[in-house]
Amino acid sequence: MKVLIDKILNDARSEIAASGSLKDLNDARVKFLGKNGEFTAVMKNLKDVPADERPLVGKLVNEAKEKIEKLIAESEKLLSEKELKEKISAETIDITLPGKKSEYGSLHPISLVINEISDIFIGLGFDVTDGPEIETDLYNFEMLNTPKDHPARDMQDTFYISEDIVLRTQTSSMQIRTMLKQKPPIRIINPGKVYRSDFDSSHSPMFHQIEGLVVDKHITLCDLLGLLGEFAKKLFSAETKTRFRPSYFPFTEPSVEVDVTCSECHGKGCPLCKHTGWMEILGAGIVNPKVLENCGIDSNEYSALAFGMGIERIAITRYGISDMRIVFENDKRFLRNYR
Ligand code: PHE
Repeated sequence: MKVLIDKILNDARSEIAASGSLKDLNDARVKFLGKNGEFTAVMKNLKDVPADERPLVGKLVNEAKEKIEKLIAESEKLLSEKELKEKISAETIDITLPGKKSEYGSLHPISLVINEISDIFIGLGFDVTDGPEIETDLYNFEMLNTPKDHPARDMQDTFYISEDIVLRTQTSSMQIRTMLKQKPPIRIINPGKVYRSDFDSSHSPMFHQIEGLVVDKHITLCDLLGLLGEFAKKLFSAETKTRFRPSYFPFTEPSVEVDVTCSECHGKGCPLCKHTGWMEILGAGIVNPKVLENCGIDSNEYSALAFGMGIERIAITRYGISDMRIVFENDKRFLRNYR
């Protein structure tokens, strides 16, 4: 029996010494001291030992177990120190490495232009409004004096959702929505997305417009020219000149198209303005009395001016962007320039 106990003790000693980790050590503990461990087996066989030798064997077993426990405790201390050291050295932080920068987001150039234009008009006493992009044919066309068979509908390639519902082709629908809701005097601008079935280097199927509407007594074409001339100077530079060309829109009479001197060459001619010295930025006019009447506003008492500008046009002019499609590609290399 003594030989067996000594052998177990020696086995335990060498296994504890060979344990490379706390896990190995725990395995050894279970193997020798556990409920199903080797000493338990010895104790179970105690009945085969002659009665007078049993106390001695019991004593030997207990001594051996104590020795093993002591060895395990010592080894445990060493191993946990070792593992802690390894963990610390594996987690070393090199404080001389450059930090990871978190990138700041920024406003899209289209938003920047909308904000800038809105600020100018807010300064002139306008309110900024908002309206739906899915619009009725009634507000987008009919009430703007553009009935179903009107040839001017061809000017705008429309996305129809149904016979009577469209993706708005122009923010001019907001003229109707505003006049139906609000009594004059009215002074609003409405920035937003519009949609037309058109796609090339200077057209995107979705783009942005800002609609402007002023309804009051004695509004004339002079007010329109003065307002837009002032606006162009504020947006581009004090030297910017404005040019008005006669045009046609079903909902304004008279109608004009407005050009400003090229922001790049200031009128001399360059590739950006196709060597004309001018950039077309908006359509405008005196609101057709029929449109006022459609909205229940007495056209003998009130008159109105309206204008609609393409934001992308202005962004392109302002930032010298050559292909409009890039504006919506969301390429960070492009967007980064507008921080
Ligand atoms: N809605 C017109 C367009 O999209 C622009 C416009 C607005 C013209 C207001 C006159 C008055 O082309």
